[in-house]
Amino acid sequence: MTTERLLNLLARPETPSREVLAAALALEDFRPVYELADHIRREHKGNVVDIRAILEFSNHCRRRCRYCGLNAANRNLGRFRMPPEEMVETVHQAAQAGYRTIVLQSGEDPWYTPERLGEIIRRIRQNDDIAVTVSCGEMPEDDYAALKESGADRYLLKHETADPELYDRLHPCGTLKNRVECLKNLKKLGFETGSGFMIGLPGQTLATIADDLLLLKEIGCDMAGIGPFIPHPDTELRDVPEGSTELCKRAVALARILLPECNLPATTALGVVNNGEKNDVFSCGANVVMRKVTPTRYKALYEIYPAKLGETHIVAQRRELEEQIRALGREPL
Ligand code: 5AD
Repeated sequence: MTTERLLNLLARPETPSREVLAAALALEDFRPVYELADHIRREHKGNVVDIRAILEFSNHCRRRCRYCGLNAANRNLGRFRMPPEEMVETVHQAAQAGYRTIVLQSGEDPWYTPERLGEIIRRIRQNDDIAVTVSCGEMPEDDYAALKESGADRYLLKHETADPELYDRLHPCGTLKNRVECLKNLKKLGFETGSGFMIGLPGQTLATIADDLLLLKEIGCDMAGIGPFIPHPDTELRDVPEGSTELCKRAVALARILLPECNLPATTALGVVNNGEKNDVFSCGANVVMRKVTPTRYKALYEIYPAKLGETHIVAQRRELEEQIRALGREPL
């Protein structure tokens, strides 16, 4: 298929086929697709880059996902839970620094029952005008409903990979079917729903990534985090090479084309792999960036993948990011 034919198929309102998406990912020269994605981003999301705060409040996890440093089998990790009081206070600092969204993320930690988490969310909402996104894994529909009731607006739950067999190999504790069921429940309950997946998982092909993109579309995602797999030394996948940042950006661009209104973060993992490239991600369709506001003493323990993590300075780091975004000709929000 010629590049011109591919571009025509991508630019049409109908959802492109798996074959077209896989062929696009493999293009020798992807620049025209980046340009199309950037154009769509400008039309639908404007010039703004949304800066969101993420608070990683517990690294306890009952799951054993084979790629994740927080997996329950990892005995080398000191575990922590933030007291609710401290969570509410940290979110207040983020709000005062100008953040308009807080992402509350943790492993699947049963200590934070829907009641406890709901109470924390209620207190955050009483204090501050800040949207609350929850990212705490799979729960029964009733628990999601309770969180919605307490004031959560959004939920992030990445599907990780759309290949059911690969999903099974990576996740001894769950199924793709259940994951997608959770996402559909969240959508039904009225959450702004975020999914996403990793690039570079062992056994993943371009056709798998095409399926990942089509699954985002099928779910009707409002957000999608697409990031490279990064090997963690305390996991079974320690020797698997890290995912390609270029392929990752290509997937973000195609996600923008498939879902023009979607909020697409330049994922933190992408920043970890190559900081110098991160600016590019804003020109391939991304319109969101997340910053950790996790207090320094916990941050090093929230090691999903190895990363260089310095101290947390909520205000200064937000200002710095705002400047970087302005320097790219975009407007921080
Ligand atoms: N490399 C990259 N991303 C990872 N995640 C977990 N482990 C890794 C890893 N080794 C991502 C998953 C998860 C999110 C919280 O972090 O996509 O949903």
